[in-house]
Order: sequence, then structure tokens, then C-alpha cells
Amino acid sequence: MEVRGLTKRFGDLTAVDDVTFDLFPGEILGILGPNGAGKTTLIQLLLHVLTPTAGRIYVFGLDLDRHREAILSRVNFSSAYVSMPSSLTVRENLQVFARLYQVSPAPERIAHLLKLLEIDDLAAKITGTLSSGQITRLCLAKALLNEPRILFLDEPTASLDPDIADKTRRLLRRLRDETGMAVVYTSHNMKEMEELCDRLLFLSKGRVLASGTPTALRDRFRGGTLEEVYLKVVRGEA
Ligand SMILES: Nc1ncnc2c1ncn2[C@@H]1O[C@H](COP(=O)(O)OP(=O)(O)OP(=O)(O)O)[C@@H](O)[C@H]1O
Ligand SMILES: [Mg+2]
Repeated sequence: MEVRGLTKRFGDLTAVDDVTFDLFPGEILGILGPNGAGKTTLIQLLLHVLTPTAGRIYVFGLDLDRHREAILSRVNFSSAYVSMPSSLTVRENLQVFARLYQVSPAPERIAHLLKLLEIDDLAAKITGTLSSGQITRLCLAKALLNEPRILFLDEPTASLDPDIADKTRRLLRRLRDETGMAVVYTSHNMKEMEELCDRLLFLSKGRVLASGTPTALRDRFRGGTLEEVYLKVVRGEA
């Protein structure tokens, strides 16, 4: 994916301000920054849920504006904050999305993902009765239905217990290693970002303040941990 000069204004507010970066196959790119920095808005632009005020996005060599459907059929999205139709069972929800993504054979793929996310015992449960961590895992299963080449994850681990969060990170790394899937990831957990991401984009007020590998950012801002770097940067001490 190539992102060039991407800008989104809401009235007087510039939520994403002239952002440029590349995402390579198999790369896990972390986007970090304070509340309101523009992370979710950036992901919504990359998913064509929002229209940019300026700038261009190319995915798989295609212009997202002109090849929306072809691109979106090969990517997917999940977040701790998305909702699913609450009166359907877990399996029914996955069946609906499998049809939307034209997954075939759907029953096998759904059975595989239910196991992979360790929610096979919840398959017949009504979605509205799930705990928030269980819904997060259902959303992740949905996000993997079409074997995406790019997976966008906006705070996917926010509601997961430490054990499941760790398993989720391992799963993402394994899928990346096995399939070359790229991941765009946001989280406020700096330990997680440091451990998981190959490269980081530091956003503040919509602008890229810094970017690089976790090690490069720690060296540049003389922090022992990414958390220390983060606090230095947002408090203007860097
Ligand atoms: N639809 C909208 N209309 C007006 N302003 C918006 C809209 N969506 C987002 N914003 C504003 O854009 C800015 C960036 O918001 P965004 O949700 O992208 O931040 P974020 O980095 O994801 O923050 P958080 O860490 O809290 O999730 C905020 O100031 C927000 O209020
Ligand atoms: Mg957000």
C-alpha cells in the first residue's frame, strides 16, 4: 500500500494531515499516538469508509478511489469497538459475512476460524449475550474470513484478557509468517506495540511526528522502552 499526502478535514479540524507512508507485504505496521491523534480516521480513510480531503491511496498497485471493490474484497478490518448483529448466533454472523465475501466452502472456513480463535464452543450462542472479549474474537474471526492480504486492526486487544491478547498476537504473527498478510495495528499498549510491530508511525494532531522500527525510535528519543519514548514525545520533552 502506498499512501501519499493523505489529509482529512472535518470543518476547521484537520484530523489527518499530509500523511505519507508505505506498507510492505508481511509487514506489521503500528500506528500510535494520543487520543484524538487521527489513528481511527486514518484507518477509515484506508478502508474508504471516509473520503479524503486530499491525497492518494494505492493498494496492490491500484487507486483505492477507482478500484474500491477489488481492493476491499482482499482486505479486512476488526476493532474492539465494532458491533455485530446481536440477535444472530456466532455461526450465523460468520455465515452472513462469508456470503458477503463470497467465501467458499464457507462451512469449512468458518469451522477452521472458530477453532483458531478458540470460540468453537460459542458457535450456537446468541451474539448479544457474548462478553466483550468474546465479541472481539468473533470480530477477528470475521476479519480473517476472506484470507485478507492486509488486515486493519483498530485496538483489537483492548478488551482481551492477557492470555487471549497474547494468543491473538501470536496468531497474527503466525498468519503473517505463513501467508505474507500485512497488518496495520493500533493500540495504546506500548509493550504490545514494541513486541508486535516491525515499524511504527507516531501520529500527533494528524501529523506523522516520527516513524521507524521500535529500536530506531528508542535510540532516537533515548528511551529505555517505547512507553518512555511515548511519554517524552507527547509531553514535549524529546
Ligand atoms: N466524523 C467526524 N466529525 C468530526 N470530527 C471527527 C470525526 N471523526 C473524528 N473526528 C475528530 O478527529 C480527530 C481524530 O479522531 P480519531 O478518532 O481519528 O482519533 P484516534 O487517534 O483514533 O483517537 P483514540 O486514541 O481516542 O481512538 C478527533 O479530534 C475527533 O474528534
Ligand atoms: Mg481511535
